[in-house]
Amino acid sequence: MRILYPFAKRFIAGENLETALKNIYKLNDNGYLCTIDVLGEDTHNPGQAENARDEYIALLKAIETHHMPLDLSLKLSQMGLSIDPALCRKNVEAVIDAAGQHTVRFDMEGSNLTQAILDMCLELHQPHSNLGIVVQAYLHRTEKDVATMIDKQISVRLCKGAYKEPADIAFQDMQAIRENFLKLAHPLLKEGHLPAIATHDETLIRHILQFIEKEKIAPETFYFELLYGVRRDLQKHLLDQGYQVRIYVPYGSAWLPYTLRRLAERKENILFVIKSLVQE
Ligand code: FDA
Repeated sequence: MRILYPFAKRFIAGENLETALKNIYKLNDNGYLCTIDVLGEDTHNPGQAENARDEYIALLKAIETHHMPLDLSLKLSQMGLSIDPALCRKNVEAVIDAAGQHTVRFDMEGSNLTQAILDMCLELHQPHSNLGIVVQAYLHRTEKDVATMIDKQISVRLCKGAYKEPADIAFQDMQAIRENFLKLAHPLLKEGHLPAIATHDETLIRHILQFIEKEKIAPETFYFELLYGVRRDLQKHLLDQGYQVRIYVPYGSAWLPYTLRRLAERKENILFVIKSLVQE
């Protein structure tokens, strides 16, 4: 699968911390905030889960003197959730402790883990803690989850959802997903704690901009969050308009599952890969 690396490079900030940090500093210098994801997921080996924990702690150590306002994003399946929830909790707590004021957000994964990820977040959350969560607009359950997170004032990143889910639990039609995204974004923007609107969908962004203007929502009370390497023009446009723009920056050697999800999101990406393979 190394053959996909030239494509992966567009979406990841490097295969190691040193390269990633150069890109993170560059983004910071240009006015963007960053959320860092050490790539890896679905670990079935306790040693690998501990290595992932240590990589996050090494990252925090490396930026200690830079006072960068960065967030961390973690996949609980990388921290050992599918092996043993107690091991996962121990690893996550170590990262949260090391993170201090930096927000630690749990990425949302496939629906077999949704409840366990939400439960872990609610269990570890304390008032004013640095914990955040992601919710997916394609899931029917998410309206209820958003209400819970607003009630607890846990910071939420709202995205459409990137996994293949069945019709009995998830909207399948893009229009329905968009409508639900907006239905969820409105209360988050009005009453949520520092929500992040995570999409590159210009129709959604246009609606959100109209909503915040109508409701007089201050730009410092929420983020737009976009993926590293996706729609840089839109990232810059939002930044230039005075919004807080966060870039989700993944790095590490386990780039394949993340890259395959980015590939699947757009048929142009698949065509690009096929074309470059044919040209080899
Ligand atoms: P949509 O897919 O409609 O894309 C809109 C436009 O953006 C496209 O027309 C294209 O121009 C561009 N674009 C989008 N994806 C692209 C790609 N892969 N390559 C090139 N161009 C692309 N999901 C999840 O299940 N759990 C999570 O924790 C997260 N976390 C997360 C963080 C952040 C910051 C973002 C932005 C997204 C996520 N996601 C996620 C992924 C999310 O669920 C969704 O799959 C993608 O964001 C694509 O959906 P969009 O809303 O961007 O719209």
